[in-house]
Amino acid sequence: MTTTIRTQNATLNLDAVRADFPILGREVNGHPLTYLDSANTSQMPILVQNRMREHQRRHNANAARSAHTLGNEATEAYEGARGKVAAFIGARTPEEVVFTKNSTEAINLVAHTFSAPAAQRIIDERLVLRRGDEILVSEMEHHSNLVPWQLLCDRTGATLRWLPLTDDGRLDLTRLDELVNERTKIVSIVHMSNILGTVNPVAPIVARAHAVGALMLLDASQSVPHMPIDVTALDVDFVAFSGHKMCGPTGIGVLWGRAELLELMPPFLGGGSMIDVVSMRHSTYAHPPARFEAGTPPILSAVGLGAAVDYLSGLGMTAVDRHERDLTAYALTVLQEVPGMRLYGPTTTLDRGAVISFNVDGVEPVRLGSLLDSLGVQVRVGRHCAAPVCTRFGVTSTTRASFYLYTTTAEIDTLVNGLMLAHRWVSDGREPHRGKTR
Ligand code: ALA
Repeated sequence: MTTTIRTQNATLNLDAVRADFPILGREVNGHPLTYLDSANTSQMPILVQNRMREHQRRHNANAARSAHTLGNEATEAYEGARGKVAAFIGARTPEEVVFTKNSTEAINLVAHTFSAPAAQRIIDERLVLRRGDEILVSEMEHHSNLVPWQLLCDRTGATLRWLPLTDDGRLDLTRLDELVNERTKIVSIVHMSNILGTVNPVAPIVARAHAVGALMLLDASQSVPHMPIDVTALDVDFVAFSGHKMCGPTGIGVLWGRAELLELMPPFLGGGSMIDVVSMRHSTYAHPPARFEAGTPPILSAVGLGAAVDYLSGLGMTAVDRHERDLTAYALTVLQEVPGMRLYGPTTTLDRGAVISFNVDGVEPVRLGSLLDSLGVQVRVGRHCAAPVCTRFGVTSTTRASFYLYTTTAEIDTLVNGLMLAHRWVSDGREPHRGKTR
C-alpha cells in the first residue's frame, strides 16, 4: 500500500486512489463494501493513518507547553498542520485558521461572539447583537448552522430570518434585498447542502451582506472536501468545516476567520494556552488563534488533517471535483430509471455536488437503508440533520447516497440494482423478513 503522495493530475487514477483506502476492500454482509456515505464521514487513506501512527510512535507530547524535544516536535506538527490547512483554503496567514472540534463548534464559536458579556468584548458594533437585529440563514441549513443562531436569538432578542427554497431545491433569492437589510448583522449560509447537493451562489449573498454592513459565515462542511475553495476570493468573513469529511480523522474542525475580525473577538472557552496575563480576579487573552484553542488541542487529529490536506492537494481538488461531477451526472441519470423514484434537489449537475437524496415509493427510508445494507451498500437514511428541508418537501425522511473521490460508477450501479430489488420486493409483496437482511 503506497504512502507516497501522487503528483497532481487532471484526472484521478481511480484504481490507484482506491488502493489508498484499505477499508474499501472489506466485505459487509457477504458483499463487497459499497460505501456511499462520505457526506456523513469520509474514509481515511493509508497516508493519513500512517502519519498519525508515526506521530503517536515517535512524537507524542503536548503542544505549546513544553520546551523539551518531544514537546517541540508536537508543537511543530500541530502548527505545521495549521499552515497546511491555511494554504489549502487560500487563507492569508495560518493565524486565520482556528482548530475546533468540528464545524458545529466553529459555528457556535462565532455565534457566541455576538452575545458575549460587555466585559469580554472589544467594542465593535459589527460583533454585537441586540433586540431588533436580524440573523439570516436559509431553509436548507444543517442543524449545526441553524440551532446555534436560534440559541443566539434566545439570548439576545434578535430575530432569525431565512431564505426559502425553490421546488428544485435551490435558494430563492428573489427577496434577498428585503431579507438582508439594515437590521441584518450576520448572514450564515451553507455552501453545499448536505441533503440536496445544491451548491449555493456565494457572490450575490456576500455582496448584499457587506452592502448592509453584515458579516457572512459560510458553512463549507460539504464543499471544502470536494472542490477547490479559496476563502479570500470568496470574500466571506468566516468559514467552517470538519476534518472527518475530507479524508481526515474525527475530532477536528476548522474555523477560518478574517484576521481583523478574529482579533476583535472574545474567547469562547476558557483555560490553558488561551491567556496572556492571569490573576485571581481577571485574565487577559492571547492573540488568535490561541485565544480560541483553550486546553490541550487535538494534536493527533491535526496531524491527520494535515496529512489529509497533503493527500487531497497531491491529487488536485480540480480533479476531485471533476470526478465527482461525472459521478453525479451518471447517478442522476441511472437513479431516475428506478421505478417510483423521487429525487430531491437539482436534477442536473449545474451548481450541484455529489450528494443525492431520494425516496422510492412504498419503501420507508429506514427499511430501504436496511435492505441496501444487506447488500453491502452503506447509505444514510433519515432527516440528515436538516429537518426543515424534509418539511419543505413534505417528507419525514429520505435516503441519501453521497460520493467521494474513491467512488466508482460500478458502485452506483450496485446502488441502483439494490433499489430495483427493493422496489420489486415491495411491489411483489415478497419483502424478506427483516431478520434475514442484516
Ligand atoms: N453532516 C453530516 C451528514 O450530513 C453528519 O451526514
